[in-house]
Amino acid sequence: RPPPMSALTATHSVDLQPLHTFGLPARALELRLLVNTADLLAFARARQEGQTFLLLGEGSNTVFVNAQVDATVWKVALKGRQYLGCDGIHHHLRVRAGENWHQTVEWTVAMGWGGLENLALIPGCVGASPVQNIGAYGVELKDRVSAVHVFDLDAQSERAFTVDECEFAYRDSIFKHAAQGRYVITAVDFALPVHWQPVLGYGDVAQRVAELGELTPMNLLKAVCAIRTEKLPDPAVLGNSGSFFKNPIVDTAQVKCLIDQFPNLVHYPAGPGMEKLAAGWLIDQCGLKGHVLGGVGVYSKQALILVNLGQGQGSELLQLVQHVQSSVQRKYGVLIEPEPNLIQT
Ligand code: FAD
Ligand code: EPU
Repeated sequence: RPPPMSALTATHSVDLQPLHTFGLPARALELRLLVNTADLLAFARARQEGQTFLLLGEGSNTVFVNAQVDATVWKVALKGRQYLGCDGIHHHLRVRAGENWHQTVEWTVAMGWGGLENLALIPGCVGASPVQNIGAYGVELKDRVSAVHVFDLDAQSERAFTVDECEFAYRDSIFKHAAQGRYVITAVDFALPVHWQPVLGYGDVAQRVAELGELTPMNLLKAVCAIRTEKLPDPAVLGNSGSFFKNPIVDTAQVKCLIDQFPNLVHYPAGPGMEKLAAGWLIDQCGLKGHVLGGVGVYSKQALILVNLGQGQGSELLQLVQHVQSSVQRKYGVLIEPEPNLIQT
């Protein structure tokens, strides 16, 4: 009889470079896969015994900055997708955390259930999608989720978070704050509208889908994939973590002052009295597009993306982050904060 899969995957001194899309050189003490309930219980016990740990999906929003990570990395690999039924208003689906996000979007569209197509081609797994409430092209995860299932490592039992309990906001949720480190997200429930309403308001999405012909979820998915492929570097070719900084949210009074000085400032409404600035525009205007620091740099086609040019080191990345932040702060008086989790244990 072969040993259980989790035992097979417990290895010592693990190479983390291929396990995160920025691809910096790093090693961890140990890698364990979370495949089933027994693994979740083993994880809970190890945590109770004081093990230092990190929870990982596909590593597209995680940057291992230090060469040595003194922790056990638990990688979520719970698999399965289920159609729960239709109540006449929504199709209800449950997708387990270890499923790939983009493949899940493709599956829903191929089955005829529209609603997730604007979120196509976002790297990563389903379990990480609620953590920063992934968003793109006018849609956020929170618009399509009905519940988030978790394994509570304290209670060693399962529970579900309602959408309200998740406290979703722009690139944010409770899983980055009060719930951080206590829960493993095991599955996400989606409610996709039976009567599909395309979301076409962002940038040139409407024009790009019109060029493809009929307005369908599949053509919208294709248009979003085409736009993203032109703009974003493929991590398999050039290491990156997507947008490296969040778009800063500032109050309207500050935006008015900035517009007096910089009439072309890119800004969007972000709730009462607040506006979102385009961090990519701010960085670009500082003349940093294509800026190189050792083995890392600002992507030459999109200033919001930092890239690993091949031999990048964590220390260089930290220097570059600081340089970009201080340049923007000096010119605009605005702090831009990193979006990915920078692991510096
Ligand atoms: P990881 O990096 O593995 O993990 C991210 C965080 O979630 C970590 O804190 C981890 O501990 C936690 N986590 C992971 N799984 C679980 C779980 N099961 N339970 C609890 N916590 C968990 N993001 C967007 O929002 N919009 C975009 O358009 C977008 N475009 C991108 C483009 C590129 C090229 C890249 C590289 C990244 C992009 N991202 C984007 C960021 C990234 O794809 C998302 O944040 C994604 O959800 C991360 O998934 P992951 O599995 O790789 O997460
Ligand atoms: N811009 C520039 N120069 C640049 C980059 C951008 O002037 O080098 C300007 C653009 O012209 C545009 C504005 O900045 O006017 C915004 O650019 P874009 O539409 O490309 O969006 P973004 O703010 O760079 C955000 C998300 C992306 C998401 C896209 C589409 C954040 C931090 N980033 O990018 O998410 O895919 O919108 O919705 O919110 C991610 O989170 O990793 C990510 C890629």
